[in-house]
Amino acid sequence: MYFFRHDLKEKHQVNVDVPHLKYMMCLNESTLDPFQVVKHEFLDLMHNIHLNRYYSNITQELYQEIATYADVENDQIILGNGADEMLYYLFNAVRDNSNSFALSLSPSYFDYQSYCDAVGLSLKTITLLDDFSIDLDNLSLVSENPNCRLIIICNPNNPTGNLFPRDDIIRIIELNPDKLILIDETYFEFSGVTLVDLINKYANLVIIRTFSKAFSAAGLRFGYMISSKENIHEIKKVFTAFNLSILTQALALTIIRNKKIFLEYNQQIIRQREELYNFLNNIDRVQVFKSFTNFLLFRCKDYIDLFHYLKENEIAVRIVGDQGILKNCLRVSVADRKLNQVFIKAVNEFRI
Ligand SMILES: Cc1ncc(COP(=O)(O)O)c(C=O)c1O
Repeated sequence: MYFFRHDLKEKHQVNVDVPHLKYMMCLNESTLDPFQVVKHEFLDLMHNIHLNRYYSNITQELYQEIATYADVENDQIILGNGADEMLYYLFNAVRDNSNSFALSLSPSYFDYQSYCDAVGLSLKTITLLDDFSIDLDNLSLVSENPNCRLIIICNPNNPTGNLFPRDDIIRIIELNPDKLILIDETYFEFSGVTLVDLINKYANLVIIRTFSKAFSAAGLRFGYMISSKENIHEIKKVFTAFNLSILTQALALTIIRNKKIFLEYNQQIIRQREELYNFLNNIDRVQVFKSFTNFLLFRCKDYIDLFHYLKENEIAVRIVGDQGILKNCLRVSVADRKLNQVFIKAVNEFRI
């Protein structure tokens, strides 16, 4: 007897397969915790919060603050538990039937597959070209299929770290007016590049963002989606009522009210990214790729040995694949100077 949707039988649980070591440089989390500086404000806010109620009047303020930060109107956003939940809801909202598919790039964020699986949406991918750019011709061929319901572009892309040219993305948006184009701007604050200024121009554009990276709040699980008022109205139909806990809202409100502090802390990571890039770039056997995120992708022949050596030294990095354009590649999250030095020391020792 199988009690569930039949396609689930073949699917896997979402499983983030990383070791839990002393120095975590594998999940693109922030190693800084500016929340400690402002937590008294959160505690003050809690005086006016009543957990016996579903509704809180801080919701309105949070919507207003996020809309102002994103430079859109309140009714052009929806809030949820991390970018992941936004993906899950959006995939749910675009799936028409068992032939529906989303189209993404490869390599890109691993969990597009997980959430497509979860809602019964197939995922097809277009392999990036050797310079990590989009194969636009191939993408147009596949997206012509009327069952293609959504095109996902992670910009900057995880795990390659590059930005796609704005003109390429606009071309994709314009060539596919009948399907949604999702821009995953999880790493927006590290690149400073957004397509949000086009939200009112293109009816098929959706953007998701998160507090998990530049706002140092991965554990908070807070993210948001931006689109036209009409799209947000439709997408809301698959949301559960009161999907975002009042506690999460109070924490997110504390963070966004203090965005200046958080984003200043984040500048440290951006500076460290360049230092770490230069270090890796100076190693003959290593090829490191320019990044607009808080991680670096690098290639070295003995990547498996290096991975294990780092692991023995309590440093977790990520093996992102061993084929095609990711052959022999590792991904390391950029940390604060102190932790980056731990990584640098270990890599230097490994080289000797
Ligand atoms: C490209 C991309 N999208 C979405 C997510 C999920 O972010 P969140 O923590 O907000 O769910 C991640 C997390 O690493 C990511 O790299």
